[in-house]
Amino acid sequence: MTMASAFYRFGYLSCKPSVPGTCKPAAAGRGNGGIHHALAITRSNWRCRNMATASGETTVAPAGRRREKKDVVEGEEEWRSYLAPQKLEVLRQLEPWVEEHVLPLLKPVEASWQPSDLLPDPAALGSDGFQAACLELRAAAAGVPDDLLVCLVANMVTEEALPTYPSGLNRLEVVRDATGADATAWARWIRGWSAEENRHGDVLNRYMHLSGRFDMREVERTVQRLIRDGMVVHAPASPFHGFVYVAFQERATAIAHGNTARLVGARGAGDAALARICGTVAADEKRHEAAYTRVVAKLFEADPDAAMRAVAYVMRRRIDMPTAFINDGRHSGGDFYARFIAIAEQAGTYTVSDYRGILEHLIRQWGVEELAAGLTGDGRRARDYLCALPYKIKRMEEKAHDRAVKAQKKPTRIPINWIFDRTITVILP
Ligand SMILES: [Fe+2]
Ligand SMILES: [Fe+2]
Repeated sequence: MTMASAFYRFGYLSCKPSVPGTCKPAAAGRGNGGIHHALAITRSNWRCRNMATASGETTVAPAGRRREKKDVVEGEEEWRSYLAPQKLEVLRQLEPWVEEHVLPLLKPVEASWQPSDLLPDPAALGSDGFQAACLELRAAAAGVPDDLLVCLVANMVTEEALPTYPSGLNRLEVVRDATGADATAWARWIRGWSAEENRHGDVLNRYMHLSGRFDMREVERTVQRLIRDGMVVHAPASPFHGFVYVAFQERATAIAHGNTARLVGARGAGDAALARICGTVAADEKRHEAAYTRVVAKLFEADPDAAMRAVAYVMRRRIDMPTAFINDGRHSGGDFYARFIAIAEQAGTYTVSDYRGILEHLIRQWGVEELAAGLTGDGRRARDYLCALPYKIKRMEEKAHDRAVKAQKKPTRIPINWIFDRTITVILP
């Protein structure tokens, strides 16, 4: 799982496709301009939804509220239709296929890396050797800039909130691990995946502890708050929607850890050990992404109309990821989250262009644009919506950038308690 894709709430665009049936290629750049306009988009989308619940005020007009309520009711009916026996039967029928094509994407414990492999080992090094290795680790960590440290904390906190995620998968009909030790391929996948994920928070946590660059008590309090506060999941019992969501999430995670590895590594901040840790975690996420993407591709094969509508459903709503409720104890969860979005965007660990790129990648992976057979009218509309969405996002990025340039906003200094209240300077939209 990732903190990163949590901030992208383009689902709220719920646009009518302006260019039906066309998938526009993404611009690859990630310059400062991209950073700032992406910020403006994400921030404004966040505010529209969350200020209403956080403070009692609302930015949504009465007509908009009525439409939202209607959308909620229709959305509920839509995803609940996936709990019909014939839809769930699709998942049951897939179990032998999961055994053969998904479970092999997990690595046996004996072949898996462990956090101890990537950090100084006192038992192997002895007292003096361990001390020397720790000093070396701390010297390299000293060069990592504060904005990347903050992003690293958010990555770690999100991984440490692991208990939230298998409990989410275990709400999905058919595939859930009903007893906690089910022998089905689906249940073994959920447990095996969780077991692999568990190492991610562990290794990041231990690195951070040894580096001496973090106020670990504040970080630990943030972890506790995030697990306590949970996360919002749309369509919480539908495996179709759940797997679409996790496929997106795992790719986003791989990108976020991968970007962090690049930025902290030898060609960036110069911390090769940290780069290796982040790169190792990213490689795991890539395998997980492959598994969930494969599952959704199979759902497209089995029931193209249902799969297409599920992808559109997920993308139309905000992709509420684990860090949506992250907070430092000084702000409301959403308020801190909005600041963190700006920092991550500026640091380049995950950007709005990344989000758009993931969407385009998945559209290609699942053959969304070419798919015609087996679609109902709603399925065709879902396809056209999806194909137009990256283009729409790109247009919003550009408009937000233009607005930001016009406004000439001054940077804000944000104190972060995870790094002893040193401040991060960032332009908030
Ligand atoms: Fe993952
Ligand atoms: Fe992970």
